[in-house]
Amino acid sequence: MAPREQWTSKLGFILAAAGSAIGLGAIWKFPYMVGTNGGSVFVLLFIISTIGIGLPILLAEFVIGRMGQSDAVTAFKRLAPGKKWPIIGWLGFAFGFIVLSFYSVVGGWILSYLVRALTFQLDVADFGALFASITANPLEILLAQAVFLLLTIWIVQGGIKAGIERASRWMMPLLFIFFIILAIRSLTLDGAMEGVRFLFVPDWSLLTGGTFLVALGQAFFSLSVGVTAMMTYASYLSKDEQLGQSALSVSILNIVISILAGLVIFPAVFALGLSPAEGPGLIFIILPAIFGQIPFGGFFMILFFILMLFATLTSSMSMLEIVVSTGIRAKYDRRKRAAWVFGALIFIIGIPSALSFGVLSEFTIFGDTIFDFADLLTSRIGMPIGALAISIFAGFVLTNKQTTDELNTHPLIHSVWKFLVKYAAPAAIIIIFVTWIFEILS
Ligand code: PHE
Repeated sequence: MAPREQWTSKLGFILAAAGSAIGLGAIWKFPYMVGTNGGSVFVLLFIISTIGIGLPILLAEFVIGRMGQSDAVTAFKRLAPGKKWPIIGWLGFAFGFIVLSFYSVVGGWILSYLVRALTFQLDVADFGALFASITANPLEILLAQAVFLLLTIWIVQGGIKAGIERASRWMMPLLFIFFIILAIRSLTLDGAMEGVRFLFVPDWSLLTGGTFLVALGQAFFSLSVGVTAMMTYASYLSKDEQLGQSALSVSILNIVISILAGLVIFPAVFALGLSPAEGPGLIFIILPAIFGQIPFGGFFMILFFILMLFATLTSSMSMLEIVVSTGIRAKYDRRKRAAWVFGALIFIIGIPSALSFGVLSEFTIFGDTIFDFADLLTSRIGMPIGALAISIFAGFVLTNKQTTDELNTHPLIHSVWKFLVKYAAPAAIIIIFVTWIFEILS
């Protein structure tokens, strides 16, 4: 039987975890969620959720993952024999399918834009119309989604060291630099300040349980928390690394990139007189417009879409990794076949989401398109439930001795973390969730 792999270095693990976290969540989803959920109040709730709830649970996933040294289901079996906790692993397995099924649709859009940028077809007058026509074209969109999934499968079947770690190492810093340049361009457009106000000056009337739940879901989604992705990654980490710092770096990086994405998008939205509430197409409409205002914009746009594709792949491979590691358990020699089989299944499950912007746009579930519903199901229901269970497990099932050993940090930090995962995070999740339900019912 093939042995279990490990990351080659601590940096490798941080990069991979950051790679899983930073992806479409920060770059694509955060701006459009801010735009459709009232701007700055959402930004604030997102930051509070990330630091106060997301970070401690991320750390809980790291702790459980490294203690378990295996896929999530086996980890819970080992840590709490004879109990029902492995269900969390199976939940992650199920939601791994759903999340990648719609994530790969957006991955496909990036590919479509990249091909258009490479063939000089992005020099159009109306980017909104272009986005609508691309996403409504069933053949193109399914083909692009399939290619995106093939790339994801190709990396995951190669195993962690060869694929995931190497790819993460150089693209993250480059993407970061690009974002800073774009933000500067966007902020220096005429009328850009309106966008900055939208991001940072709160309108408190928009503060509701619903907005809080969306912000919490966004924090979980962009930290990859609640579906055992981070648990799985931490299981490949050796015992002598400190977990707290890694979790903190990933969380802060994620907030920084999200805000940067906001600073790229919103100044330009207002400067160009467009609507912030555009929805999932927002960045695909705004970004090409900003590049149009930059010297050598066409060239930089190609580079940018390539980087974005990498950021998206480092996240999508962590989703497929959940499914593959749980699917094969300790039978590591089945990794290749499992990656292909599960990848193909995910493509099939994703077809209705892909068609949500065209032939299936009229088909709705509780008022949402299939694409939006798949997203809602993961970010607003699956991830909060998974996160809640993980938090309770780390807080109440793992003993103080176990977590102290595993965290290996200052006793005060351990106590604060333990308090957060035992009481504060679960209480917050439950209150936010229940408030949302009441709002829906009233
Ligand atoms: N965090 C990833 C992103 O922001 C999405 C993700 C969700 C990855 C769940 C893994 C698990 O793009």
